[in-house]
Amino acid sequence: MFDDPQSPDWNPLLEAAWKARDCAHAPYSHFQVGAALQTSSGAVFGGCNVENAAYPVCLCAERGALSAAVAAGLRPGGLVAAVVVTDVDQLTPPCGACRQALIEFAAGLPVLLANKQGRQLHRLENLLPHSFTGGHFQ
Ligand code: THU
Repeated sequence: MFDDPQSPDWNPLLEAAWKARDCAHAPYSHFQVGAALQTSSGAVFGGCNVENAAYPVCLCAERGALSAAVAAGLRPGGLVAAVVVTDVDQLTPPCGACRQALIEFAAGLPVLLANKQGRQLHRLENLLPHSFTGGHFQ
């Protein structure tokens, strides 16, 4: 289902990510990012980057989407797919902080990077190998 980057199963996520991207607040970088997450119930949550005049306060699209999903009841193990979209030539992978935030909820998460020209599919555990998790101190 989410093993094939061309599968139509990605369409609702792509639609949500592009829609969220239109709402990005990025007056400083002018780099608008959209993200979407699907949970095991089938629900899809979009997110966009939200920048701030105090630069470190900026929020990435992926963590915005994650926050919406958690607020709707997402718990670890309940994420099934993620999408990140931008309209630049080079596909945009999630930053390190977003990889760490997402891996809390699904190590094997399929992460589709997309722009208007193409798609690339990754697994979160390959984007963040040897990750630090709660298991390291519990
Ligand atoms: N950004 C994201 O929202 N997600 C990413 O995966 C990479 C970076 C945002 C943060 C900031 O608003 C802008 O892109 C430039 O770094």
